Amino acid sequence: MTFDVATAARALLERNWREGEYRGRRYAFSVPSPRSYPWQWYWDSGFHAIVRRRFDPAGARAELETLLNAADPDGFIGHTVLWGHPLDLQRAVRYNIASRADLMTRTIQPPLLAWAWAWAVGDPRGADPRIDAHHAWLREHRALTDDGLLWLIQPDESGMDASPKFDHVWGRLAQGRPSFPLLIARNRRLGFDARRIRAAGRPVVCEVLTNVVWSLSERALGRPSPTPALIERLWDGRAGRFADDVVNAVRPTPPAARPRTWDTLAPLALPDLPDAIAQRLVDEVLRAPGFADGVPLPAVALDDPTHTSRETWWGRHRHWRGPSWVNSAWLVSLGLRRLGLDAEADALAARLAAVVAREGFREYYESRLGYGMGARDFGWSTLLWELLDPVDPPRAS
Ligand code: GLC
Repeated sequence: MTFDVATAARALLERNWREGEYRGRRYAFSVPSPRSYPWQWYWDSGFHAIVRRRFDPAGARAELETLLNAADPDGFIGHTVLWGHPLDLQRAVRYNIASRADLMTRTIQPPLLAWAWAWAVGDPRGADPRIDAHHAWLREHRALTDDGLLWLIQPDESGMDASPKFDHVWGRLAQGRPSFPLLIARNRRLGFDARRIRAAGRPVVCEVLTNVVWSLSERALGRPSPTPALIERLWDGRAGRFADDVVNAVRPTPPAARPRTWDTLAPLALPDLPDAIAQRLVDEVLRAPGFADGVPLPAVALDDPTHTSRETWWGRHRHWRGPSWVNSAWLVSLGLRRLGLDAEADALAARLAAVVAREGFREYYESRLGYGMGARDFGWSTLLWELLDPVDPPRAS
């Protein structure tokens, strides 16, 4: 039996589609997973729109516009938009809301919107003033340094919630630890305001993946590329890897001593990453056994001491501590293709396709044997379609 990725991906995104009106605003988008994630997640919607453009361009645009319909007048768009019904009490302690009446959480996710727009709709420059307002909000509230890079106040803002790379930053309050709700409570008291949080001596992080996505979106908007600043601040030429810059870490740890997480490879998605750095990442990280031996792409190198594929008794909140994710594989494959390593990108896609054909579109996959883990009917795993049928990424002007 052959696996028809187009048919399966389309069916999933259609099944997960929700549309209507809530509190006077229109919404139309796919939930990441009907049971586990029954609302709109910011960066998931970016990935969904990128895939959806293949069979429903109007719907892809509507999904991105739904994020814009949620935006505050000042351009803030939250990590999760609670269309249709508010949070239940049990989730309210784990979600970054200021009050249970909120339409959105008060934290962010990697700012994928403008780049996803370039893929799914067209040139985002001048397309909708709310996109520019959103970027202005990010610059004003999260660019804590003169170089214009963005800083995070919690692990989940990176999209990689429980990644072990945050353990040294937040210690026992890191995500995936039972005390994580205390971090949310503390940030809520500080108004989820990055400057106040830094001034209070609490950690803030200039995170690699977030700034890769920021660079892709800023470039899509015709703004100066943040890539040189990203290299300047986050590239460690001696270790040959990208690593977060951290202020006020609980246990300050030099980059070389931190867990080897996949996001050091995320800059491969940048069209303006110098070839010398890209090639070095491929040679020294991607082709090393810790990543090359795994189902594409392990969140943490297989041979890193922090790598774990086990779930915990209190739930799935340790994801990103080991298992493989499709969005990561896709972002990295963009870099392989740009370097002309198409055969390698094809091999990566084929390997992942065999796993998805067997297991279905799961949230993530055990990184050695590939059994499906986490949520079922998971939206962004349909990016496999992009991996198998690649097209050139949208060009920034
Ligand atoms: C998990 C992921 C996050 C994603 C969300 C919904 O929290 O870590 O990146 O956006 O699920 O899929």
